Amino acid sequence: MERYALSKLVFALFVFLLSGGLAAADEEASTIEPTVECGEAPAVGTDAEGGSPKPIEDEVLALLYEENCAFCHGYDGTPILPGTPNFAEGERLEKCNAALLVTMKMGKNDMPPWEDVLSLHEQRQLLNFVRRFVAGEK
Ligand code: HEC
Repeated sequence: MERYALSKLVFALFVFLLSGGLAAADEEASTIEPTVECGEAPAVGTDAEGGSPKPIEDEVLALLYEENCAFCHGYDGTPILPGTPNFAEGERLEKCNAALLVTMKMGKNDMPPWEDVLSLHEQRQLLNFVRRFVAGEK
C-alpha cells in the first residue's frame, strides 16, 4: 500500500515536471527574440556586406531618415506614432548596436522590417543618425 502511494507520488511529480517543462518551453517560443552578441557588434559605418563603404553624406542620410523613419519617429527623434521610443530622450539607445540592428532588420510590432528596403550599410548609418538625436543634434 505504501509502495503504491509512493509510485503514485512519483508519477504525479513526473507529470508535474513534464507539464511545467512544456509550458516553459511554450513561453520561450512565444517570446523568442534573436540572440545577439553585443560584444561582437560591428562598428557603425563598417560593412559586413563587403568592403568598407564610405559613410553616407549627412544630407543624404537626413533625407533617408525623413523618407523612411520620420513619420513614426519624428524629425528630431520625438515620436509621432504612439508606442514609438523617444530617441530624443535616449529611449532604447542604451541597447547595443547589434541588438537595435536586429529590430531594424526584422521589424517588431509596428516597426516595419527594413531588410529588403535599406542596405545593411544604410541601416547602420541610420542607427548612427538616430543616436545623435540624444545629444540634440540634427
Ligand atoms: C511605421 C512606424 C515606424 C517606422 C516607419 C519606423 N519605425 Fe522604428 N520603431 C517603430 C516602433 C513602433 C518601434 C518600437 C517597437 C517595439 O519595441 O515594440 C520602433 C523601434 C525602433 C528602434 C528601437 C529598436 C529596439 O531594438 O528597441 C530603432 C533603432 C528604430 N525603430 C529605428 C528606425 C529607423 C532608423 C527607421 C527608418 C529606417 C524606423 N525606425 C522606421 C515604428 C517605426
